[in-house]
Order: sequence, then structure tokens, then C-alpha cells
Amino acid sequence: MKLIISLVSLLLISSTISAESNCTHCWIQERTRSRRSIDFNDVFKLPAYRMPRSFKPTNYELEIKPFTINATFLGKVKIFGSWISEGSRIKLDVDRGLYITNISIKCLSPNSTEAFEKADIAEQEHNIKKAEFNIDLQQWFTTGRKCEININYTGNISISETYGFFMNSYLDTLAQAHTFLATHLRLNHAKQLFPCIDEPEYKATFLLSVVRPKNLQCRSNTPLIASTEIPDEPNFMRDNFEKTPEMSTYQLAFMISDFESMSPSRSVNPIEGRGPLEIKVWGRKEYLSTLSKVPNKIVTIINYLQNYFNISIGLSKLDLVAMPMYTASKASDSWGLMFFKESELSSPLVWNTAYELIYQWIGQRITPFRWTDAQVNKALNSFLASKTTVDIDPHEMEGKWPMTLLYSLYYEFGKTLPFSRVAGIRHEATSSKIELVFRMFNYTLGEEIFRQGVQKFVHEPAKNRSFYAHDIFTQLDKVRVKNNLTLPNDLTISSIAAPWITRDRVPVVTVIRDYETGNITFTQNVFLRETPPASNEKMSYLWDIPIIMVSQENISFAKLQPNYWLTKSDNSITMTDIASKENFVIVNPEEIGMFPVNYDPCNWYMLGEFLQGPMRETIPVLTRAKLLHDAWNMAYAGNICFEVALNMTLFLKNETSHVVWEPFFTMIDHVGRKIQESENVATNFEAYIFSLLEPLYKNQLGETPNPNEPSWKTHMRGLAKNFLCRAGYRPCVEEAKEQYKKWMKDDEPDEGNPVANEFICPVFRWGTMEEWEFGLQRVINFPQKTIERKQSERTYLLKTLAGCPVDKKKIERLLNVTILNENSNFTDSDIQLIYSTLTGSATGYFALFDFLVDHWNLMKQRFETKEHLWNGIINSATSSFSTQEGYDMVSQLYKDRQREADPAEAIIKKVMGDLEEELKWSKSNLPVIEGWLNNHLKQRPSSLMSSERQTTAMDSSSITPFAG
Ligand SMILES: *[C@@H]1O[C@H](CO)[C@@H](O)[C@H](O)[C@H]1NC(C)=O
Ligand SMILES: *[C@@H]1O[C@H](CO)[C@@H](O)[C@H](O)[C@H]1NC(C)=O
Ligand SMILES: *[C@@H]1O[C@H](CO)[C@@H](O)[C@H](O)[C@H]1NC(C)=O
Ligand SMILES: *[C@@H]1O[C@H](CO)[C@@H](O)[C@H](O)[C@H]1NC(C)=O
Repeated sequence: MKLIISLVSLLLISSTISAESNCTHCWIQERTRSRRSIDFNDVFKLPAYRMPRSFKPTNYELEIKPFTINATFLGKVKIFGSWISEGSRIKLDVDRGLYITNISIKCLSPNSTEAFEKADIAEQEHNIKKAEFNIDLQQWFTTGRKCEININYTGNISISETYGFFMNSYLDTLAQAHTFLATHLRLNHAKQLFPCIDEPEYKATFLLSVVRPKNLQCRSNTPLIASTEIPDEPNFMRDNFEKTPEMSTYQLAFMISDFESMSPSRSVNPIEGRGPLEIKVWGRKEYLSTLSKVPNKIVTIINYLQNYFNISIGLSKLDLVAMPMYTASKASDSWGLMFFKESELSSPLVWNTAYELIYQWIGQRITPFRWTDAQVNKALNSFLASKTTVDIDPHEMEGKWPMTLLYSLYYEFGKTLPFSRVAGIRHEATSSKIELVFRMFNYTLGEEIFRQGVQKFVHEPAKNRSFYAHDIFTQLDKVRVKNNLTLPNDLTISSIAAPWITRDRVPVVTVIRDYETGNITFTQNVFLRETPPASNEKMSYLWDIPIIMVSQENISFAKLQPNYWLTKSDNSITMTDIASKENFVIVNPEEIGMFPVNYDPCNWYMLGEFLQGPMRETIPVLTRAKLLHDAWNMAYAGNICFEVALNMTLFLKNETSHVVWEPFFTMIDHVGRKIQESENVATNFEAYIFSLLEPLYKNQLGETPNPNEPSWKTHMRGLAKNFLCRAGYRPCVEEAKEQYKKWMKDDEPDEGNPVANEFICPVFRWGTMEEWEFGLQRVINFPQKTIERKQSERTYLLKTLAGCPVDKKKIERLLNVTILNENSNFTDSDIQLIYSTLTGSATGYFALFDFLVDHWNLMKQRFETKEHLWNGIINSATSSFSTQEGYDMVSQLYKDRQREADPAEAIIKKVMGDLEEELKWSKSNLPVIEGWLNNHLKQRPSSLMSSERQTTAMDSSSITPFAG
């Protein structure tokens, strides 16, 4: 009798709860963590084609008078400019919310500087849909003629958004409302405030005047020059601001509020012969004390940046505002006046503040010429923010930079079809790539030359203080040439950068050392983690790759510059080795280039041995992490034998750095999923990782958090504990069961859940059937209409009920209740959630498969009218297998059901094709992993729950479709 065994699945929660894609998950986490995501999706929504304009404004005189009572304003703008090509039509951008009440135009006579003449308007039209206003003049104008357009208009103040011209109010502790108004005109919201040419390249100067209630203050980009009384309006004042430098319309900003301000106790260093930049931090009165440390932090960062750029921000003052209820996805970085969310500005961290401040130079002092140039802007600022943070407070990055970015890229670009699951992260990934390219040049050119290039970029923008995306690369190259830094084959910084930025791939460099001849050969290929289907075209991309090497004899990571460039023109080079044959080499230390490295087995072996020795910390953490990670990626992709990768883990017994451990958890998860079907391999693998991790958890991290510990420690403890619990670490399972008891003893268990989420999965996994059943009853009896309990709680319970068990009986019970008994508490989407969750664990999909085989006719009938559910179940039950045994089961099912003319047939047939690919992986790797583990795992750690549970599960699966 052939047993259908139900197996332990590794790493359950992460493989089921975030079953989709770990990489996607990382991206999202990364974005919310550092709030890097700016309005990119908006940038890509802008129309690519822009209307040609004949008339270009050079100065705007703008008067705004808001009425908070009905959220409207009166506006008056005088646009002075000239014809840049001959014509008779003036085309302005005017939002649908602006209503033009009066318009008049006068122009200078040719060759005169004074004599203005009225120009007659033939026709005017407001195209609401395109937000354009066309003025056709009766006269034809030649290039160079100057005109002045006077427009009176009214507009609306937004009360629901935080862009355009908006207002909001906050409550103080006495529940008094305080109204404030502000603008956020990026990307193209200036046309909601005034008629203008709302495109970044049309720069002009601005003279702003704002009428505001007497008890409030107004701030804008430039300093206030005068506040004057208004005749007949005793409650209002008029504020006039200094003329701005030439700038784009989106850069204009003002704010009217009763916020109060603080100045730093230290001052910014004077630069460019100006006085020190005057800094003020604003917030509502009651929030000000929370911001007390911010002003001096800003001074520290500004001094660092002024010194780095060797230039000022270009204005004499800078206001930073903690704005209540500010909801924009990114802080508003307008020149001289920045708006942050309150919590964002008050944060003691450096990275985000530095990132926003860098925009005062790159993004405000100089600006992207078009919005498509903004992506390089973002990437450069992000790189510089990381560099600034590392220099000001190295602890803040916690060694995560650049790995969080980089390893996500390796996973995504190693897929057969990158971004096939979530297209939205592509723009984000491109920014990350560009950022890493800057980091690569910062190393390969050296920090000083890189800095000179950035300075040249900020000091000498192409035109009009605007830049194109490629300018930064051009300037870096000029500085490189000036410094006599040569590159092979006439390479330039731009030509090197382009393939790294434009492709959704990275190379892998294979390093083969010939120990007889003393030669070393480097070869580049496209890095793939998944075996591409045979039908795929072979990719022949090539890159220019800096080869930076460290040898064991000369182990120093202080100065890392390229020994060679492996260029596009020769995908392989051979040269004299830098190390003798008893010594290893490390290529691409510190992840300088965005590529993994593979070595010959002998070099891998020497590395593995060294890492277990007393000198191992002479290799810095980032490089230790890289070696481990590369070895695993190579083995996973089938480029080296898995034994090599496993040998590389032996040093983890002594490894205490979270930088090395953290990325490894993702690898454990990926490999765990591949091997979970083979019970012996899976349990031994889990026990082996457990034996490495247990001492770290108990001795280094400590079981209980210390209130002042760094955040990486808390995070790392969470990851470790999560793994240990899933593996069946007794103390953890006991603690979880203890906590769970509280709920089971509750008289009204459906009124709320007293157990923290972290305890639930271990109980459903290692606990009794009774404990699990109690959880099921909580889902069944979950209160329908209640505000106290959210539906997401129920969803979480259901997912853990399905995803956590290693005991097949639990899954059978769940399927019986939801599918066969048609319990009305479970909706179609619950069923969908259950079967998709089951694909994450071997217990789950084996149980689902058996259930399907046993109840085929009943289920088919039940889902007769719900084809998507039926198809989904078929797919989930069959598609996750990865071994021959699973394949045989699916093919038997196919044979049995082939003649039913059911749509399921096509699904199973396709699944079988995919499984054949999967089989190759397990056929070549499983025996190797199994053999290695048998040699290295002496016995199962005693603190681990025994695997009896699987025996129970095995016994319970007495009904099998292939019995006999
Ligand atoms: C809004 O209120 C102001 C001041 O009371 C008034 O002058 C203006 O006409 C009002 N606007 C609208 C559209 O009602
Ligand atoms: C204006 O100046 C240009 C060149 O300076 C000259 O050719 C043209 O005749 C002048 N036009 C008038 C109206 O004076
Ligand atoms: C435009 O508005 C200003 C006041 O803001 C007013 O003095 C002027 O008369 C208005 N012009 C027209 C033509 O309505
Ligand atoms: C570069 O080389 C030129 C010519 O050999 C020399 O004059 C110049 O000083 C060098 N520049 C640097 C920065 O070394």
C-alpha cells in the first residue's frame, strides 16, 4: 500500500500568508518604511505630448485673496512675457475650477521699452476638459515682442485634498478649530491656483501678494518684505514677498496659518558669501515641544550637504512645517518652504529628513527639465540620503543598505518574467537600480571624484538651472577625464550606466581559477534563478562590469577600486590570478556592482573554511552576507552543487550579525518550499537550521526585548522566534498554548480575541485537534455586524486554520465543513481563500488533493454553476507538487478523469507540463541535500517537538485513492 503521507511544511506562515511573492512583499515594506515612493505613478500618467507655446512668461505678479467661509478665492495675475515664436495665439493652462472674470492684454510696440498698446482679443475659449485657455489675438506677433496679460479670476480652495490650493483645520486641546491654508503645486497643480504655463521648463520669476486674516501669518518661498493694512478691511492684511529667483510653477508655495515657529540654537555655516541660511521649524502650538530637537538636526544635515555640494540652497531662508492632517504620499519639498506630516518631521531619524532636504538642491535649486527626468533625481537623492545618513549616524542604516534594495532586485530579475505579478513596482525598481548604479560609481570612481561630479552637476546645469536625466552621468564623466581616470575601450560613465539601468536583468559573473597555470577567468551571463522554459529565446545581454577583487593574502577592504573591467565587447577574460592556489579570492566585495558571483568549487571551499575560522571577521558583514547569499542563489539556480551552498552555512553557527542572518531567512523560505514534499529532507533541513539559530536566539538576542535595544534586534528576534516556533521549539509552543488557554476559558469567546496573532499559528500547528477546533468555531460564530471586531481578524483566523496545521485531519475537517457540509457561514471567497492558502504547505495541498479525489463527483456537482471556484480548486490541488510521487498522483487523476469532457481536464494537463519542469529541480537537488544533511545533522535537537504529529497524520490518511 502506497501511503499518501502528509508532510511537514517548512516556514509555514510566511509561505502561506504571503504566498504570493516575497519580493513584492519586500518592495511594499521598503516603500512604507522609508516613504520613498513619490508621485511617480503620477509622473507616468502625464501626457507625453506637450502643446507647443509661442508665448513664454518671464514674470508672474500674483495676488491671492482667500475666503475660508465658502472655500473660494479671488485671484489676479499679471503675466509678463515674450513671444518665442511668431503667432497670434496665447495658450495657458487653467484648471476647470478657475473662472476667468476679466482678461486684457497689452503689448510693447516693436523696438520700444515703454509704449504699451492694447492688443485686441478676437476670441477666447476655456477648454475645461484639457484645462487649457486659448486666447486668439487679432494681430500677428513677431518673435521677441513683449506682452502683459492681466487676468482677474475666481477659484475654489480644496477641502478634501492636500494638493493644489487647500485648506484644513486642526482642533486644539480645548476643541477649538484652527483653520490653515496651504499649497502643494507639484506635479502640475499650479493651474488650480493661477493661469500659467504649468510645465517645469517654463521658468519665470514670481512676485506674490497674499491677503490674509490679521491673526494669521503667511509664509512663502522667499522672505516677507512688507505687511500692509487694507483700506475698509480692518480684519485683513496684505503680505508681499520678495521676488523669487527664476523657477517652475510647481515650485511656488505659500501657507497661511497660526502655527508657531522655533529656530535652531546653532546656525548654518555661511557659504557663497551670503549670511547663514535662516531656518525655522513650524508646527501647531501644542505640537511644538515634540519638534524641539528637529531644528538642530536640520542644521547638522544642512551643514553636511552644503559642504558636500559646496553651494547654498540658493535662498536666504528655509521653513519646515509639521502640517497637521497632511496626507500627501511624500513631503512637499518646495523651495524654501517644506511641508511634512507631523510624525515625519518629528522623527529623530536622519534618512528621511536628509532625503527631503537634498531636494532643496537637486529638485529646487536645479530642477528636472521634464517630469521624466525626475526619476534620476529621485534615485540620486536617495543615494545621497543614504550616504549622508551613513556619515552622520551609521547606526541608523543598520547595515541594511543596500541589501534590502539589492536582494529584492536579484529575486525579481532572476525570474523568467520579471514583474509579471505586480507591474506597479517596476518604476520603483528602476529607481532602485539607478540608485545602486550611483553607489557603484561612488566606489569605482572613488568618493572624491564622485563628489566633484555631483558638484559640477549642481553648479553647472545645462540651461536655466534645469537638468536632463543624463546630465549627471555626463558631468561625472567630465570629472573622471579631468582626473586622468581611464576606462578601457573608450567606455564612458553614460555608456556603462545605460544597460544597468534599462534592463530588467542583472549579470552573474563566474570566476574560474586555474590552479595549475595560475590564471583566473571571468565570464558574464544573464543571471536567472528559474530555469527558463526551453521555448524562451536565449538572452545575450552584456554589461560593462567592474571587477574588484580581494585576495586572502592581502585581505583589506579599505580601498576598493576595479582591477579590471569586464566589458560588453568581451564576455570573458583570462588573466594572471592575484592569489596563490592555497588562498581564496573574493570578487565584487561589499556588493559594489549589482551582480552575484559564482566561483569554482575549490575557491568556494576555501571561503567556506575561512569563514569558520578565527579570522572570519576580517571579511566585513556585508561581504559575508553576500558570499552566503550568492552561494545559495547559485545553488538554487542550478549553477553549483547544493553541497557548496550548504557548506557555506556552517559558519552561521558563530555568526551573530543580523546583516548576515536577515537576508538568509528569505533563502530558507524559498528552499524550504522546494523541498517540503520530501518528509525526511524537510524535517532534517528544519532541524539543521534550528541548530544554527537556537544559540543565536538564546545567547545573543535574548528571549525578552530590552526597552532600549536597537530596532534591528527586535526585528531579528521576531524572525528567529517565528522560525523556531514553526519548527516546533518547545518553550515557544508551550508559551503559545498557555496564551491560547485564556481564550478557550473565556465565557464570551466571540466578543474578542485576547491572544496576540504570533501565538495563533504555533497552536494550530502543534496544538491538539481540540484547540484547533475551538479556532474553527470562532470563525463560524464570528459576529457579523460589529464595529468592535474587524473582518480582517476573521480572515487571519481562517488563513491560519488552513495554513498552519501539519496534521492532515485538521485540513480534512476544514474541507468537510466548508465544502461538503456547505456551512452557510462560509462564502465563496472564504473557500477561495482556503484553497489558495493550502497550496503553501505540503500538508495542505496533499490533503486537498486527496479530498478532491475522494469527493470528485460531489464537488463537481456542488460547483456546477461556479466554474471559477471549481477550476481554482483543481489548480490548487494539483499545481504545487514538486516530486515524482506528486506527479504520478496528478497523472493518475488525469487518466481517471480524462473522458469527462470537463474544463478541469485542460487545467490538469497544463499543470502536468509545469510539474515536469519542477521535477528536474528536485531530482538533481534533493538527493544532494539529503545526503549532506545526513552527514551533518547528528541528531534532532532535544528542544524541538518530536515529529510524532506527522505519524498521526499519516495514520489518519487511511483512505487513499491509490490504495492497493
Ligand atoms: C464667498 O464669500 C465671499 C466673502 O463673503 C464673497 O465675496 C464671495 O462672493 C463668495 N463667493 C461665492 C462663490 O459665493
Ligand atoms: C526695429 O529695429 C529693427 C532692427 O533694429 C529695424 O530693422 C526695424 O525697422 C525697427 N522697427 C521699427 C518699427 O522701428
Ligand atoms: C481686477 O481686480 C482688481 C482688484 O483685484 C480691480 O482693481 C480691477 O478693477 C479688476 N479689473 C477688472 C477689469 O475687473
Ligand atoms: C592629468 O594628466 C595631465 C597630463 O599628463 C596632467 O597635466 C594633469 O595634472 C593630470 N591631472 C591630474 C588630476 O592628475
